[in-house]
Amino acid sequence: MNFEMQDSNYAKIVENIMKNEEFNKLKLIEHHGISRFDHSVRVSYYSYKIAKMMHLDYEQTARGGLLHDFFLSHDNRSVKEKFVSTFIHPAKALETARKNFTLTRKEEDMIRSHMFPINISVPKYLESWIVSGVDKVVAVKEFSLKFRFKFRYAYNIVLLFIIGFIK
Ligand SMILES: [Fe+2]
Ligand SMILES: [Fe+2]
Repeated sequence: MNFEMQDSNYAKIVENIMKNEEFNKLKLIEHHGISRFDHSVRVSYYSYKIAKMMHLDYEQTARGGLLHDFFLSHDNRSVKEKFVSTFIHPAKALETARKNFTLTRKEEDMIRSHMFPINISVPKYLESWIVSGVDKVVAVKEFSLKFRFKFRYAYNIVLLFIIGFIK
């Protein structure tokens, strides 16, 4: 999954974010079973492709999508902290993104509203709706892979049990 290698136009748009030291810290943080960096690139690239197809502002979509989860809290937190983070991390991501980059209003909106309707910030732009939608689809895929791996042994035991019965 190296979207920058496949698509030089995309690579150019996100180049300064990809080179940012703070942003690269996301490579070390687990998120939905992969790194927060990989999750962010995936959301950014698919959102960029959809925005391009719809003749929308694909450059801002690529950047806003890439920064939507730019917060540096680690995954090894308590269940309560993770629950609270579901609601507050867009504000944290916006704060970190503002510290590191100059953002447009649209990019800010993509970050702020990506968890809608879980948080009440309604997306103001079509591009923000795209990032929010793609984030959900990507998250479902990542979670399903994470839990399939986590319960691999349980699957095997159930499978052996069923095979034992069939015999
Ligand atoms: Fe998020
Ligand atoms: Fe996300």
